[in-house]
Parts: sequence; structure tokens; C-alpha cells
Amino acid sequence: RRLVVLVSGSGTNLQALLDEIAATGAEAYGAEVVAVGADREGIEGLARAERAGLATFVCKVGDHATREEWDAALTDAVAAHEPDLVVSAGFMKIVGERFLARFGGRFVNTHPALLPSFPGAHGVRDALAYGAKVTGCTVHFVDDGVDTGPIIAQGVVEVRDEDDESALHERIKEVERRLLVEVVGRLARNGYRIEGRKVVIQ
Ligand code: GRF
Repeated sequence: RRLVVLVSGSGTNLQALLDEIAATGAEAYGAEVVAVGADREGIEGLARAERAGLATFVCKVGDHATREEWDAALTDAVAAHEPDLVVSAGFMKIVGERFLARFGGRFVNTHPALLPSFPGAHGVRDALAYGAKVTGCTVHFVDDGVDTGPIIAQGVVEVRDEDDESALHERIKEVERRLLVEVVGRLARNGYRIEGRKVVIQ
């Protein structure tokens, strides 16, 4: 299976996928990363991809006259690599209709909270501010909402009294990286069905 991974930041989830595939071999894992895309230049996620010798592309919203044109450009850039699965690993843009028409049902996102709690760009901060005692991470298929698609897997992380946002996010990411590697491998190896809000992995 061919994976395209989309990033916007440090790319440690991407790195976890690359390390797992390097360790187990693409054949045994069931997938290989064929390209990495981003919405901005100069991020560590792209540097990680370049160090791994992967194709990269950048689609900046500001380079396009409208959001729809950006969405079309992103769709074409991803499609050029003929992915079986697209993985958003810290990609901080909401894709549009064109992208979902092309990749819906095979576009996976990882979110650092237990959806449906704390969706959006500040899930870690919001859980902390709310006083949640446990939070965690969610791997889900992307639908036309924000962090609302069918849930594939979740991992629970306790919130500690002394936590600030970055300490809690780091502890979530330790669970999240393992969860993403495990889920992407199973989706790629076993195949899956999406039945309403239920995901069935064969
Ligand atoms: C992850 O926790 C992801 O869920 C969130 O941003 C973080 C990205 O981390 N959206 P990285 O870029 O993979 O290190």
C-alpha cells in the first residue's frame, strides 16, 4: 500500500511511521510512505522526509486566489503519488470537497484528544483548561466536518496536576505515535469497511 503523509509541524508522527517501516520492512508492515506534503515551508516534518529521501510537496493557501483552488491543488499534488491511504499527521488545514471527493474513506487523521471531546486546533489546551482527568488521542477517518469522522482507535492518557500544555501534549504524542503506526499498518494489511460511524478492520 502507498501512503502519502501530510504534515504542518515537527513531524514526529511521520517519523514514527518511517521508523516502523524501516524496522519491519514495507512488505511486512503493509505500506510505504511514497511522499510527504505540507501546507508550509521550512518545517521539521519536511526535513525528516528529505532526510529519508522521500518526495515532498508544499501547498500554501496563500499561493492560491481562493480556498477552493488550494484544495484542488492539494488534491492534485497528493493524487500525483497515487496513494492508497492519505495520513494527516499534524496537518493543520481543513481540506475541502474536492479533496474529500477524491480521498474520502481513505484519509486518516490523528487528533490529540478523545473525540468527540475537544475537537479543533487546541485539543490539548482545551482538555487541560477544562480540568479533564483523562484525555488522549484519536485516529479517525476524515469526513466533511472538523475532527468528526468515524473513529478507528483511541488511546487514553492521564492528565497530571503539574501538566502544562506542552508536557501533556508530549505524553499524548508518545501514545499517539504508537497508535497511528498500529492503525495504519492494520488498515493497510487487512483492509477495512466503514459502516456509518463504525469502522470494521478485517
Ligand atoms: C500531533 O499531536 C497531532 O495530533 C496534532 O499535532 C501534533 C503533530 O505532531 N494535530 P507531529 O508534527 O507529528 O510531531
